[in-house]
Parts: sequence; structure tokens; C-alpha cells
Amino acid sequence: MPFSLEEYLQSRVSEVEVALDRLAPPVSQPPQPICEAMRYSLFAGGKRIRPILTLATVETLGGDREEALPIACAIEMLHTYSLIHDDLPAMDNDDYRRGRPTNHKVYGDAIAILAGDALLTYAFQVLAEVDMQGREKEQLAIIRELASASGVQGMIGGQVADIQAAGKPADEATLLYIHRHKTGDLLTASVRMGAIFAGASPEELQLLTTYARNLGLAFQIQDDILDVVGDQEKLGKTVGADAALGKLTFPSVYGLEESRNQLVRLTQEALAALDRLPRDTTILRAIADYLLKREH
Ligand code: IPE
Ligand code: IPE
Ligand code: MG
Ligand code: MG
Ligand code: MG
Repeated sequence: MPFSLEEYLQSRVSEVEVALDRLAPPVSQPPQPICEAMRYSLFAGGKRIRPILTLATVETLGGDREEALPIACAIEMLHTYSLIHDDLPAMDNDDYRRGRPTNHKVYGDAIAILAGDALLTYAFQVLAEVDMQGREKEQLAIIRELASASGVQGMIGGQVADIQAAGKPADEATLLYIHRHKTGDLLTASVRMGAIFAGASPEELQLLTTYARNLGLAFQIQDDILDVVGDQEKLGKTVGADAALGKLTFPSVYGLEESRNQLVRLTQEALAALDRLPRDTTILRAIADYLLKREH
């Protein structure tokens, strides 16, 4: 049977969601309503692309994806925290996310901040509790990977630059810095954590990192493009928000056509890295192609 990405995504998304439900604290857990607020955003129907990248990398390297599920879930928790905080009035001030009112619209700013904090810290608890069967070095490397990708030198650094650059004259170096860090680093970590889990060789880790870095930047370029030309219903978030806030984006600096060209070029670079990986890369290729064409 030929490989169907649609079926693959459906099955992996449902595995991730079952595992997330098992791992996330129950709604009934006091104090109210923090666990409810965490679950509200966690189960609002995101694409789950980061956990899928982790599982796909593990599978590509012949690892056990069942055992990697908590790692995949930790990344999705961390990503969800970043979305909750990104939407706050002090940041992008967005009212819709994943097709629902944003967390702070429902629970108020204070609980939204705390729900984000809780998802962030819980992600690291989950990683620390994974049974890696004595592979402590790898477990520490995985924890370190998520910490550096999401911290000052990673996602947070990108978010700071994103806020500071809004409304300022265009600057290509700053634009690249923002996109590589606010989004690229977490996508890269998703792949690298899967690779480390599956025992990748240094050469394999290097090639997979190149794949993920290119894909990560491409992903944010497409996010920028969809903010201009996307369909609000499909996206589940407000379109035109970047222009309204004067954000530094690829379309604002290069225009739509050149942004699309760069997206295609980066996807080709990602695929070229896979050409050099002596494994069956069908799934990772199909994911790159899907991200290139995505409408949400
Ligand atoms: C949105 O991420 C924020 C960015 C980093 C671009 P996604 O497009 O992966 O959002 P969900 O998880 O599917 O909602
Ligand atoms: C989001 O960038 C990056 C993070 C959440 C870390 P955006 O601000 O462009 O994401 P959206 O468009 O709100 O999803
Ligand atoms: Mg933002
Ligand atoms: Mg935003
Ligand atoms: Mg955006």
C-alpha cells in the first residue's frame, strides 16, 4: 500500500491526544480552575506538528514511538504555553486561537499566565519522569534540548525581538533572528529530541538538524503568509493581526511572492538534507511537503 500522509497524521494525532489526556493533570485537581484552563488550550485542536515531528523522527531511525510519546507530549505542552502567552493583551492581544476564544478571554489574564507557566513547568516534569531505562545521558540531553530551544537563546529570545521590532523599520537580520528563534528552535528541538531518543549517530543528528532548521524557518514564513492571505475559519485565529501590530514579517519585508519563493527554497534545502540520510525518509519528506502546502 502506498504511504498516505493523511492516514499517518490522523493516527499519530490521535495517539498524541490520548497520551496528552493521560499525562495532563485532571480538571478536578484543585485549585480550580488552573487544570481546566491548561486543558482548555491543550485540547483546542492544534495541528500537533511538533509532537508528530518527534514521533516521525523516532520512527525514521527505527526507535519505539510508543515510548517516545511522553517526550512528544512535553513539546506540545510547551508549545501550547507559548501560544497562551503570545495571545495575552501585553503581547499580540489576540482573541481567537485554535478556533476558540483565547485562554485569557475565558479565564482572565492572571489564570492564563499561570496556565501557561503550569504547562511550561509540567513539560519538564514529564521529561524528567520518562522511563528511559537507565539512559540518563540521553534523558538529560533531551531535557537540555527543550530548555535551550525554549529559553533566552531560543523561543523567548525570538519573542522578545518580535515585540521590540514591531513598528520599526524593516531589518533583514532581525527578521531572520526572530523567525529562527521564536518558531524555528522549537521545531528543531522536536526533531532533535526524537533523534536523541532513538539513538541517532552524530551524522544523523546533524542531517536531521539541517532538515528541521530549514523546515522551522519555512514554517514561520508560511505562518506570516497565512496571516495575509489565509482563511480565518480554517486558521482558527484572526488574520491581518501582524499588519495591525506592525510586526516584522516576511511578507512585510519581501512581499508575498518572494516570501513564497523563500518558503519553497527552504523546503528544498530540508529535503536535500534527507537525501543524504541513509534511511527511509518517506514520512519526513511527506511532512515537509504538507507544511509547504498547508492552509492552516
Ligand atoms: C502557531 O503554531 C505559532 C507559531 C509558532 C507559528 P502552529 O501553527 O503549530 O499552531 P497549532 O499548534 O496548530 O495551533
Ligand atoms: C508565535 O508567532 C511564536 C510563538 C508563539 C512562540 P506568532 O505570533 O506569529 O504566532 P501566531 O500567528 O499568533 O500563531
Ligand atoms: Mg507573536
Ligand atoms: Mg501571535
Ligand atoms: Mg503569526
